[in-house]
Amino acid sequence: MRSTISLICIFSALAVNGATFAHGTEQHGKAAKNTHQMKKLHAMMPMLSTASARLEKALDEGDTAAAEAATRQILLAIPDLKKSTPHRNIKQKKQYVVLAGDLEQAVSSTLDLAKKRDQAGAKAAFRKAKEACAACHEKFRD
Ligand code: HEC
Repeated sequence: MRSTISLICIFSALAVNGATFAHGTEQHGKAAKNTHQMKKLHAMMPMLSTASARLEKALDEGDTAAAEAATRQILLAIPDLKKSTPHRNIKQKKQYVVLAGDLEQAVSSTLDLAKKRDQAGAKAAFRKAKEACAACHEKFRD
C-alpha cells in the first residue's frame, strides 16, 4: 500500500515536472530556433557570395568542372536557405522561399547550359540567379 502511494507521488511529481519542462523547452526552443536560423543565414551568405563569384569566373573561362563545383555548393545551401529566417518582413516567408527556389532554378539551368557549351545561355541564366539574390536582399535584408 505504501509503495502504491509513493508510486502515485512519483508519477504526479513527474507529471508536474514534465509539464513544466515541456513548457520551458517549447518556449526556449522557439527563441533558440529563430536565433539559430538567423545565425545560419548569416553564416551562409558569404559562402553564396564566393560560390557565385567562382561560378561567374568559371563561366567566363568556359571551365565546366569549376562551374559544376560552384553550382553544387550553392545548390547544397538552398534547403538551409529555405529554412532560414530573415530579420525583415518575416511574415512574408512564403515569398522568401519562392526567391530561394528562383535562385535554385536559375543556378541549375546555368550549369545545364554551361555543360551544353551554351555560354551565352549560361550567362543569361546566371544573371537571373543574381536577380534572385538581389530581389531577396531588397525585401528581406536589413
Ligand atoms: C531567399 C533570400 C536570399 C537569397 C536568394 C540570397 N540572399 Fe543573401 N542575404 C539574405 C538575407 C536575409 C541577408 C541578411 C542576413 C543577415 O545579415 O543575417 C543576406 C545577406 C547577404 C550578404 C551579406 C552578408 C551577411 O551575412 O549579411 C551577402 C554577401 C549575400 N547575402 C550574398 C548573396 C548572394 C551572392 C546570393 C545569390 C547567389 C544571395 N545572397 C541570395 C537573403 C538572401
